[in-house]
Amino acid sequence: MDPNTLIPTPDAIPAPPWVFIVLEQLLFLLHILVINAVLGGLLILLISRFRKQTVPDQSDSGQPVAKKLPILIALGINFGIPPLLFLQVVYGHLFYSSSVLMGTYWILIIPVLILAYYGAYIHSVKFITAPWFSKSALVVAVIFILYVGFMLVNNNSLMEQPEKWSAYFENRGGTILNLTDPAFIPRYLHFIVASLAVGGLLYALIYKFSKNSTEKDQRIKQGLLIFAIATSIQVVVGFWYLLSIPSDFMPNFMGQDLFSTIMLMVGIAAGIASLVFGFLGKLNAAIAHLVITVIAMIINRFNLRMMYLSDNFQLNQLTLSPQYGLLILFIFILLIGVGSIIYMLKVSSTKTEREVSS
Ligand code: HEM
Repeated sequence: MDPNTLIPTPDAIPAPPWVFIVLEQLLFLLHILVINAVLGGLLILLISRFRKQTVPDQSDSGQPVAKKLPILIALGINFGIPPLLFLQVVYGHLFYSSSVLMGTYWILIIPVLILAYYGAYIHSVKFITAPWFSKSALVVAVIFILYVGFMLVNNNSLMEQPEKWSAYFENRGGTILNLTDPAFIPRYLHFIVASLAVGGLLYALIYKFSKNSTEKDQRIKQGLLIFAIATSIQVVVGFWYLLSIPSDFMPNFMGQDLFSTIMLMVGIAAGIASLVFGFLGKLNAAIAHLVITVIAMIINRFNLRMMYLSDNFQLNQLTLSPQYGLLILFIFILLIGVGSIIYMLKVSSTKTEREVSS
């Protein structure tokens, strides 16, 4: 069956596609950095809280990190909405179709996210008073956040491969997963390992700005070490991912397409530099290189998406029906939203500092 016959006709768009793609990728950068920090922070706490202590633990066991996670989950979810809107403008005809194919798992994301948030919240507030309840809530939060990440990887990968959509004729239950795609597991692992790395940096940063901790320097070093080890593992996972994509895309990353090749090289070089700075204990340099790596990897992800879709969809297929007034109004409201979030973060961090000092 020709997969193109399954793809709905895209709607007309109100401005050139590059406007939405730039906005989508910029906001996706914020979304994924926060989500990585959340999952990584939760995983690090999970390991540290369930590790058997040979000597009684006198430390705060990462409680300052636990306190920040519920806010970060809310922030990560909010930063997911704008890229979702922009994604739908350009790829809506593909994204809605893939969402229908996995509709049962997809709709479950909403209650699962709410429970994950409560898990992280209960984990934080019961940290000292009810340790076992708190630890169980942490396990729930980790499993549910992993579920959401898994489903997002599935949806994005199904969206990019319309040739898989004919599975719908054998399964109309909304439970189609793209597990036969060789790139699926490395793509998901890439997300989990990146989360551990960013979680390590979050850990280091929270202790850096914590006024009360007596173990500040040791904790910053620990966070950076987690970051550096996870990023070293990421080099292996990254190459696995690269080797698992269809072989006819590979030459594009190996010189045939100059832009794709340069972006991949920049990403790899900055990633290796960031892990070296991590091992050297240089927090600011590690963060700066991590940000360069993630920007380059997001561009690689976009290039790869367009390679996957090359037989099914080109951006110049979209019909332009300009509505610049509406677009400007939308961006204006978006900026007010981002400003409000920054303000709320400032208020909440001053409040948390006051609570910690009192
Ligand atoms: C807290 C749970 C969440 C996790 C763990 C998570 C994780 C992820 C991951 C791993 C990806 C990349 C998938 C890939 O292409 O391989 C992704 C992409 C995306 N996420 Fe989230 N996400 C979460 C919540 C949300 C929410 C609530 C929204 C929307 C309201 C959202 C919107 C998006 C969008 C639109 C993309 C694709 C962006 C693009 O392709 O440009 N996410 N997310």
